[in-house]
Amino acid sequence: MENRLQSLKNEALEALSAVSGQQSLEEFRVKFLGRKGLLSSVMKELSQAPKEDRPRLGQLANTVKKEVEALFLEKKEDIAAGEQAHAAEAVDLSLPGRFLPCGKLHPVTQVMEEICAVFEGMGFAVAEGPDVETDYYNFEALNIPKHHPARDMHDTFYVSDSLLLRTHTSPMQARIMENQEPPLRYIAPGKVYRCDSDITHTPMFHQVEGFLVDRSVSFADLKGVLTTFTRRIFKGDLPLRFRPSFFPFTEPSAEVDIACVICQGAGCRVCKRTGWLEILGAGLIDPEVMKMVGYDPDEFSGFAFGLGVERIAMLKYGIDDIRLYYENDLRFLHQF
Ligand code: FA5
Repeated sequence: MENRLQSLKNEALEALSAVSGQQSLEEFRVKFLGRKGLLSSVMKELSQAPKEDRPRLGQLANTVKKEVEALFLEKKEDIAAGEQAHAAEAVDLSLPGRFLPCGKLHPVTQVMEEICAVFEGMGFAVAEGPDVETDYYNFEALNIPKHHPARDMHDTFYVSDSLLLRTHTSPMQARIMENQEPPLRYIAPGKVYRCDSDITHTPMFHQVEGFLVDRSVSFADLKGVLTTFTRRIFKGDLPLRFRPSFFPFTEPSAEVDIACVICQGAGCRVCKRTGWLEILGAGLIDPEVMKMVGYDPDEFSGFAFGLGVERIAMLKYGIDDIRLYYENDLRFLHQF
């Protein structure tokens, strides 16, 4: 009996090592551990063993059964873990591919690029300058000395006494002119900052500065360039008006309005019931600015303009609140 138990144990161990999947595991269980299995039948034979040997043989039979059961459970766990790992590795070729969202240019960037392309087509070169600007280039070089009332028009964000977030792209006029000789024909696109917010104003917005310096440049040249620009950007003959204005760095100065495309000139909340929307400031470069960069104002003259990119984008797309551009609502942005 003892020998039979020992050889049954060896046989079970050998059979278990050959088990490799759920099916052979179940076959093993039925053969060795099942109710009619080999271990059960040996147990039943215990009753025929001599009385005095029964306790010892019973104990031995229980130990063998427990060992075989423990090894069986270990094998069962191994097989389950192996199957799980295999399932994780498996590739389901019928699943749809992963969607990679693809961004696109912000509508303001699109319009900015369009504006630059129109001016490049008229022979203007593109230059870019710093967002954090010195007080000198933002104001002084543009004929706006300290304590000049025109500084109040700008609602400036100061970084320190002498540094600020540029309030317009006009500093690029001085930066370029002081390093180059005329003739010059430049545009300078970029971000500008003002403490200002309502349906036609945002604290950060974009401007495109443009200027041209040569001999005998007149207001008629400025009008011609800006009229051509608006015809190209709005793809048609939109009503345009030049309104006398004041900038310390241009003389004479004008603001250019375009007929409000939201209400077709009838008057709405965007154009403040006037039928017109201001898109840019412009004028002939002031002789004082020319002198500050070392040009002789009797020899050279020039024009400059600074246009608001968001305003042009509003008019192009019929948007009635400029702040929509910066709310990051994808339902809005996806339309462009
Ligand atoms: C200027 O910034 C001048 N530097 C323009 C200039 C350049 C005049 C060269 C003469 C010669 P103004 O503050 O008007 O001007 O702004 C120009 C344009 O920027 C406005 O016509 C408007 O279209 C736009 N703009 C002004 N403030 C805001 C704002 N807070 N949000 C959005 N657009 C604005």
